[in-house]
Amino acid sequence: MNSTKILIPSAASILQSMRDIGYTLDTAVADIIDNSIAAAATKIDLIFSITPSPRFLIIDNGQGMDSDELYQALRFATKSPIEIREEKDLGRFGLGLKTASFSQARKLTVVSCKEGKMSAAQWDLDYVVQSDQWLLKIIDPSELSIDSMYLDQIAVHGTIVIWDDIDRIEFSENHTQAQNYLGYLLTKLREHLGLVFHKFIEGTAKTEKIKICLNHHEIEAFNPFCLSNQFTQLIGTEKILVDDSEVLLQAYTLPHYSKMNSAEYELFKKRSDLLNGQGAYVYRNDRLMVWGDWFRLIPKTENSKYARVEINFDKQIDHQWTIDIKKSKASPPYAVLEALRRIIGKITTASVRMSTKRVSKSLTTNQSPWNRFSGEEISYKLNTNFPLYQNFFNTLSSDQRIHFQSLVEIIQSSLPMQSIYSDMAVNPKQIAMFDQVDRQKTKQKFLRFAEFMQEENMTKDKLKDAAVTCGLFSQYTNDLDQWVEEYYA
Ligand SMILES: Nc1ncnc2c1ncn2[C@@H]1O[C@H](COP(=O)(O)OP(=O)(O)O)[C@@H](O)[C@H]1O
Ligand SMILES: [Mg+2]
Repeated sequence: MNSTKILIPSAASILQSMRDIGYTLDTAVADIIDNSIAAAATKIDLIFSITPSPRFLIIDNGQGMDSDELYQALRFATKSPIEIREEKDLGRFGLGLKTASFSQARKLTVVSCKEGKMSAAQWDLDYVVQSDQWLLKIIDPSELSIDSMYLDQIAVHGTIVIWDDIDRIEFSENHTQAQNYLGYLLTKLREHLGLVFHKFIEGTAKTEKIKICLNHHEIEAFNPFCLSNQFTQLIGTEKILVDDSEVLLQAYTLPHYSKMNSAEYELFKKRSDLLNGQGAYVYRNDRLMVWGDWFRLIPKTENSKYARVEINFDKQIDHQWTIDIKKSKASPPYAVLEALRRIIGKITTASVRMSTKRVSKSLTTNQSPWNRFSGEEISYKLNTNFPLYQNFFNTLSSDQRIHFQSLVEIIQSSLPMQSIYSDMAVNPKQIAMFDQVDRQKTKQKFLRFAEFMQEENMTKDKLKDAAVTCGLFSQYTNDLDQWVEEYYA
């Protein structure tokens, strides 16, 4: 080597390229919240307003920073990925605050207060581009154009991140359209954060319980395993060591949709349907990074749609997971994939059982009105041995029998399978198999049904089983015992 030459990268170019790492509004805000959680915040307020011009505020009651810490925080790549960090620190590359902010806005201002002393600084993209130098603007907090009520919130300790000149989201000039679009963005953001930080919001994370409000409305946690429902089943647990760090895998099957209450069902339907949401949910120090992915081990099918695997790992093994800057991608190390493969075997069997339970229950008894035939081909046919069918058939004249048989053939051959399948996949709870009737009328129908079902050796239990397989009586299973007794009385 003869000599060296310092080659300083162009500040303008780096800053502009950094804008396109691939953040969305949702992932960018999540990255800023990570910092608040790392700073031990318990309350985080997000304010997105579009008048007079779009502005996003993230206000936390964390420990805050003094002026030196603030300038360090605003330095790009301020901490190295190999630096050892505190247990609760969700940071990784020393970039998030800056890259996430610039992915959405041209101006990033941070105001922070520690031990009652407030400081503020600002990265202005246009100013950096103009001078092509890393020139950070130092701002006197009293000159900030921000509602004093927000500054009061951090008067003792806390931090406010402000995004101005939000040019990556286009709002219409038309006020109503702009408001509608804002509403849409906020709903999406609310869902994203409610999922990604659900453990912090629920209070099941290792840190203190955290409250996040978006435009003054508290964000509710969305637990992807529906753990509040007693019918969620823990199917198996695996613990493995990766580089001396423990990775915990827990496999669940969600409750069958009929066991979810309407609020739970609505939530699961809204948050990408059941089918799409199946897969592994990967948490790094309680923060959800990747979800709804089987990492190519199995395809997402209707049969495994109730299966979910929770995977928890520690940031000490970040390098094993190849985490990207946005913290929205991670691929499992080989040992974890192997453990996932083992646990998938157990849960898919359980999930299949869940999806087919109702079908097989009704179709394996002899008293079912429908038969399922399987072999090389699968077909569904009316059960012509069903007593109700037989007894009715016997009342018909030979001409009527021919008409009746062709009617039955037409009905069973035109069963709208495709349409039923897609409705079951998307909206199972909305499918109504029969008109709503009251108890008294249903009871009358049951007595007529029992009459028709009359055959030799029909025991009370058999009659009840037969009634249970008919959708018509499924809502009245509690009354069936009594009705059967009355019929036999
Ligand atoms: N809300 C905040 N409260 C206190 N400190 C913060 C806050 N946001 C950022 N910091 C400080 O700024 C540093 C840089 O943040 P960031 O660019 O997101 O990188 P990383 O989170 O990977 O360290 C953090 O490590 C932290 O020390
Ligand atoms: Mg960060």
